[in-house]
Amino acid sequence: MINLTVNGRPVTVPEGTRVLQAVRAAGVALPTLCYHEGLAPYGACRLCMVTLTSPPPSKLIAACVYPAAAGMIVNTETPEAVGSRRLVLELLLGRCPQSGVIKNLAAAMGVKESRFQVSRTEGDMDLCVLCGLCVRVCQEAIGASAISFVGRGGNRRVSTPFEMHSEACIGCGACAEICPTGAIRMEDKGPWRILYTWHTRVELQPCPQCGRFFVPQEMAFLPEQCPEIESLWRLCPACRQQRAARQWMQLLPLDRPGTRGD
Ligand code: SF4
Ligand code: FES
Repeated sequence: MINLTVNGRPVTVPEGTRVLQAVRAAGVALPTLCYHEGLAPYGACRLCMVTLTSPPPSKLIAACVYPAAAGMIVNTETPEAVGSRRLVLELLLGRCPQSGVIKNLAAAMGVKESRFQVSRTEGDMDLCVLCGLCVRVCQEAIGASAISFVGRGGNRRVSTPFEMHSEACIGCGACAEICPTGAIRMEDKGPWRILYTWHTRVELQPCPQCGRFFVPQEMAFLPEQCPEIESLWRLCPACRQQRAARQWMQLLPLDRPGTRGD
């Protein structure tokens, strides 16, 4: 374990963690967009800038990628750190003026409007802040690598290869789930899951109990890899909950009020 100071508060965190974990362990709120605890640190959005006062010289760092070290003194509220985060939010507001998430983050920092109009390709990705979470979850956690960054400058965006249906996409929906701004449009329609943003649709399998289509066929390999969850996995979430509730009821003693004995 290592000891640091964040905004004057002493804090202890495990070795190998980042400054962001120390900030959070100290109970200090710090906004993030591109950080997710399940993925490798990336440092794309620069929304987590803080001042590292010691060791000298004092400098601005991105807390989510900077390794925490013993004796560090971190301050999240210096004029430089606050100004830097406000500037990032102004730029994001200029890029995605219609994003409720960005508007709320900006308002919380006292940023009501942006001096910038960041040029970008119009279209389906109006809410995309280029945080890269969708690309990284697809690559690092799912292992599909169905999407990636393409283009430069105002043309930079996330896309499938050639902006066409991606054979690599298994339709897991992790990208839509992790996207902080809701930029990825996905819908289940009958036996199809349609990922509008990725020009892709995948076939769904029905729940054997209620018949509702819910799981992409490409994900049917999972139960074979985890036999212990097979009987539950095949069911849709609603049927899974019902079965778990029934099993739980059978475990309750018969003479307790509200149990199957009533
Ligand atoms: S689509 Fe969402 S998750 Fe992907 S880069 Fe854009 S904002 Fe981030
Ligand atoms: S959260 Fe740290 S750079 Fe994005």
